[in-house]
Amino acid sequence: MRAIRHVLSVVGARPNIMKTAPVVAALARRHEPARHTLVHTGQHYDEAMSRIFLDELGVREPSQTLDVGSGSHAAQTARVIERIEPVLLAERPDIVLVPGDVNSTVGAALVAAKLEIPVAHIEAGLRSFDRSMPEEINRLLTDQLSNLLFTHSPEARDNLLREGIDDARIHAVGNTMIDTLVAMRPRMRALDAPAAHGLPRGGYLVVTLHRPALVDGDLLAHAISALDHVAKAMPVAFPIHPRTAARMRSRGLAFRSRGVRRHEPRGYVEFLSLLEGSAGALTDSGGIQEETTYLGIPCFTLRANTERPVTCEMGTNTLLGLAPERIAEVPDLLEGVRRRPVRVPPGWDGRAAERLVDVLEAGVPDWDDLAGHRRVMAPGSFRPARAGTQGE
Ligand code: UD1
Repeated sequence: MRAIRHVLSVVGARPNIMKTAPVVAALARRHEPARHTLVHTGQHYDEAMSRIFLDELGVREPSQTLDVGSGSHAAQTARVIERIEPVLLAERPDIVLVPGDVNSTVGAALVAAKLEIPVAHIEAGLRSFDRSMPEEINRLLTDQLSNLLFTHSPEARDNLLREGIDDARIHAVGNTMIDTLVAMRPRMRALDAPAAHGLPRGGYLVVTLHRPALVDGDLLAHAISALDHVAKAMPVAFPIHPRTAARMRSRGLAFRSRGVRRHEPRGYVEFLSLLEGSAGALTDSGGIQEETTYLGIPCFTLRANTERPVTCEMGTNTLLGLAPERIAEVPDLLEGVRRRPVRVPPGWDGRAAERLVDVLEAGVPDWDDLAGHRRVMAPGSFRPARAGTQGE
């Protein structure tokens, strides 16, 4: 085992910050805290997509910002790879912590692994089994590269074991994003965003849509006219992701109904307050499927699949399919979900980051210590196997 005295976390996109913030806080609370360095790749760069989250969640200014910005997947990932290497060489952390499934996650993990710096993945093992999703590729590769895999739902371990990942690398710590939600709950209640926006508590729909599969093609126009239709039954609050706003602009799409309230992306506390006061959410986001399950708010996911099946099996999530025509059904479906027995998955309790830091404090195993990674060695370089590793 290698002791961990210096942790370097990499964030790039908005949800990464929610997943990492409680770990930074839990590290700082320890008796002898490990040193922590935060690197922001700059994948998300708008004030509303990045800075506001660092401020709200009390995360210090990143030590380094890599300004990778937007681009094709290749260009964006390549910039992460190129720009993070000198940072890792200079800092030489004992472990690199990467959250989620965005391009920054896989870029940072690849560079660290090649520098033989151990990698830990927060939110490991999620699978949509849909390789047309860029995030699925990022998840698969990041998990293979990671020494420590922190999971938050039971099926994540099964997915990893099926891919040949050693059980000793997997740690079911729970959901660090829910830690952030728990920590912010008093503030979100105090804010009362529905009242501030003139929305009827329990009587409006929150919508977020940003995935390329939905917004980059013809489906976006269908989604917009279906939302215009829903707005006849209940007001719709729609904070628009920059990608979606750009696609609407370039295609000349607009809402006709005044019942659809368009917003700029909201801060975290305000968004959660809107979510908690709503009748339900319609989304293609990953994180919102989890947050609604925790809050007990019905969620309708406009995707063909989900890498978070636990939110459908135990929680409030319903997979509608990549089918904007089903948006019209949402007002009628709400009651059915409210009557369904729902449970919050184990480990979604506000204490996941503490458990994660317990694992870090125990140290990180070398690859040589893990079954399945024993090497064929040149004559003369034989090292006797340790207890418990013999008999294969
Ligand atoms: C990324 C993640 C996605 C995650 C989402 C959360 C990948 C492959 N995708 O998607 O998994 O759910 O973040 O929000 O990493 N833009 C701005 N300002 C910004 C950021 C983006 O205007 O601060 C615009 C740019 O036009 C850019 C587009 O949004 O081209 C998309 O941004 P990008 O980072 O490529 O992916 P997201 O769609 O945000």
